[in-house]
Amino acid sequence: MCGIVAYIGTKEAYPILIKGLKRLEYRGYDSAGVALMNNGNISLIKQKGKVSELEELATKASITGTLGIGHTRWATHGPPSQINSHPHISNNGDIVVIHNGIIENFQSIKEELTRRGYKFISDTDTEVLPHLIEEIQKKEKCALDKAVRLALNEVTGAYAIAVFSKKEPNILIGARKGSPLIVGIGETEFFLASDASPVIEYTKKVIYINDEEMVTLNRDGNFELKTIQNEEKTPNIQELELNLESIEKGGYDHFMLKEIHEQPKSIYDSVRGRVDLTNGKIKLGGLEEYKNRIMASRRIVIVACGTSWHAGLLAEYMIEDLARANVEVEYASEFRYRNPVIDEDDIIIAISQSGETADTLAAIEMAKQKGCLILGVCNVVGSSIPRASHAGCYTHAGPEIGVASTKAFTAQVSVFFLIALWIAENKNTLSKSRLNQLLHELEILPSKIESLLKSCEEKVKAIAKEYKDATNFLYLGRGYNFPAALEGALKLKEISYIHAEGYPAAEMKHGPIALIDEEMPVVFLVNNISSHEKTLSNVQEVAARKGQVIAIARHGDTQIKKLAKHVIEVPDTEDCLSPILASIPLQLLSYYIALERGCNVDQPRNLAKSVTVE
Ligand code: F6R
Repeated sequence: MCGIVAYIGTKEAYPILIKGLKRLEYRGYDSAGVALMNNGNISLIKQKGKVSELEELATKASITGTLGIGHTRWATHGPPSQINSHPHISNNGDIVVIHNGIIENFQSIKEELTRRGYKFISDTDTEVLPHLIEEIQKKEKCALDKAVRLALNEVTGAYAIAVFSKKEPNILIGARKGSPLIVGIGETEFFLASDASPVIEYTKKVIYINDEEMVTLNRDGNFELKTIQNEEKTPNIQELELNLESIEKGGYDHFMLKEIHEQPKSIYDSVRGRVDLTNGKIKLGGLEEYKNRIMASRRIVIVACGTSWHAGLLAEYMIEDLARANVEVEYASEFRYRNPVIDEDDIIIAISQSGETADTLAAIEMAKQKGCLILGVCNVVGSSIPRASHAGCYTHAGPEIGVASTKAFTAQVSVFFLIALWIAENKNTLSKSRLNQLLHELEILPSKIESLLKSCEEKVKAIAKEYKDATNFLYLGRGYNFPAALEGALKLKEISYIHAEGYPAAEMKHGPIALIDEEMPVVFLVNNISSHEKTLSNVQEVAARKGQVIAIARHGDTQIKKLAKHVIEVPDTEDCLSPILASIPLQLLSYYIALERGCNVDQPRNLAKSVTVE
């Protein structure tokens, strides 16, 4: 939700900002803007639309300067427009601010500042910040850093901000609460950014700013890290592991397609070093310290949103089935507000690709207050959720930039497969030979995905062409394939804007069957063995009503071929891993349908990759 990037140093800031904004565009893409300190004046250029449109405008303006801030927006307060785009500037024209988050008490601050004569031109919550900082500077006759600090003490809500002032052209300020912000430290130059991607080719040295911390970066190479209560903090400078290649398209047309094709590797990476096949052992270093507490817990409660919630549902099926432990899965946004009965006997596991999802973060903070042990299963290293958790496992899927989650989902499921087996091993719920069999199946999964990607893509493309104009889709599956059906439907709706529903196949007759006619594509996931016959009966019910059945089935499933219009074959595997294989053609199906419909696959309308507002 909004991307921010800022630079102070000796280089031209604009090329760094614009490149950084393109990398951060996954966070929001309805408008963008930059402000540069240009020969004693502030040049401010902002524009409704994508970063490329801003670039066109800025190139014509040929702005220069070695201090600057840039923003790409996902609208919360006020529609996408030039006026509502960031940066926002103070009434005296001195102070510019970019912001990611929501200032919850902006209305009362706005009313007060309006009474004092300040003019507001946008509908945004953010605009209160430059005016408030100006007002504080006027009243306190203080430097910018003190005014920013005092202003931040007056606001409630979430923010990551970057600020500079015409009067102090050697200072750039950043601060955060609830929204991510990192500082990149170069040779006498500094960067601020929502994530490491804008910084990566300039420096590997970064500081992850914590909540309620503010950093003052000086052009002379010095910097100061303090809390907004004015306490000095010792910065923890870390080395970035990210590489440039992993955030580029690498010859693919879209990040989503690249990420779908990366899954053999991302699943391998999520498992690498965690399985000792010779001795049939699982090593989850992050969890080991809390092993006794996890094994003795009354219940595991998984909290997540969206696709990560679907991975959570699969985790529930796996942990209950394989490890016989009690699991519940909660939408973080509901859990945090519904006064759940939880205590120190419960383990909370937060799942999040970005590690920044506001509802998931708030849910774990609430559970922490109640004494629960908090574990995080996240992809982005150093993000807020892992930092707020007691322990956890990274998914190691690598950067996921396409807004629709693909490789992060399958990596989450693989990690939960390992967690389920780790608990099973410790609780002795599986025999040694069965455990080895399951681990072996996980080990060969990447090669199965590799061959599946090769064998199914052309077929999926043809099916996409045939159904590109459908207005509705149903996705049905049983058991382990029900969460995968939900995920398949979500993928389709978010990138192609076709309405799609996922259902347990047996639930169909309790309502959705009324939707079935000869126009309705119904995707059946029948590649799990345990409920195969029963799912086939559901397929019969759809076929009898002339629904268009597209089936995801195991190689050599002759029965389904008699019933379905299209069959996409996937390799055999254990039932608990079958949703991973079923997800691959479903991801491709949504990708190719969206492409056929001319949709922006990597940046679907209204969405953003990192949902840092509730
Ligand atoms: C869908 C998608 C979203 C995210 C959700 C949670 O493709 O990406 O539904 O899964 O916003 O995000 P994370 O996993 O970052 O917490």
